[in-house]
Amino acid sequence: MIVTADMSISLDGYIAGTNVAIDNPGGDGAEPIFDWIHNLASWRQRQGMTGGEENRDSELMREWFDATGAVVMGRMMYDTGEDFWGDNPPFRAPVFVLTHRPRPTLVKEGGTTFTFVTDGIHSALDQAKAAAGDRNVDIAGGASTVQQYLREGLIDELQLHVVPAILGEGLRLFEDLGTGRWTLEPVRVVDTPLATHLKYRFVK
Ligand SMILES: NC(=O)c1ccc[n+]([C@@H]2O[C@H](COP(=O)([O-])OP(=O)(O)OC[C@H]3O[C@@H](n4cnc5c(N)ncnc54)[C@H](OP(=O)(O)O)[C@@H]3O)[C@@H](O)[C@H]2O)c1
Repeated sequence: MIVTADMSISLDGYIAGTNVAIDNPGGDGAEPIFDWIHNLASWRQRQGMTGGEENRDSELMREWFDATGAVVMGRMMYDTGEDFWGDNPPFRAPVFVLTHRPRPTLVKEGGTTFTFVTDGIHSALDQAKAAAGDRNVDIAGGASTVQQYLREGLIDELQLHVVPAILGEGLRLFEDLGTGRWTLEPVRVVDTPLATHLKYRFVK
């Protein structure tokens, strides 16, 4: 079991656009960050849809679904995804949502539960590890959440899906990281027309 983070990112380092809000989930101008995902067979299957492309990108998405036994996310990612994910969210695993605003646990169809954690990132990670079994815990986002786990050195592997787009503005992933320095070991590069998928392991 390892702790992963897996983010789609523009070439200039943005994981969302500007003005992210509940009615503007990805923010303004963010479409190119998520375009590579929409027509993947594996992603469509998890959304209850049919069709889509069975390609290398789709395999990587399926690999993430298969490897992930529990998820940690921030309340902004939850709030912006809630309606879209519906009654049968794609995670099919326990999800722990970091928040200052308590809320009862939600049990959805397909194995997804949302547990709202108000006592910090270590508590959320411990709960996720206990729930994940042999599979990985993924720190799913957004930026603020991944940054906090990066700062504490709690992520083992980082996969970036770098899309061929320059946004110019938006929500940056590599920001607010304090004075820490990280050494990374390349694990894999998969290059497709849709994205360059970079996987790194943190050297601790
Ligand atoms: N490109 C990608 O792969 C990707 C992946 C995931 C998400 N995203 C995008 O990321 C954006 C959201 O990112 P974000 O950085 O704005 O927000 P976020 O990390 O999703 O959530 C931040 C919020 O979570 C709660 N929180 C975070 N840390 C906490 C802590 N230690 N204790 C208690 N509560 C805590 C707080 O909410 P409260 O105070 O309100 O409770 C905080 O405002 C969305 O646009 C989403 O689409 C992109």
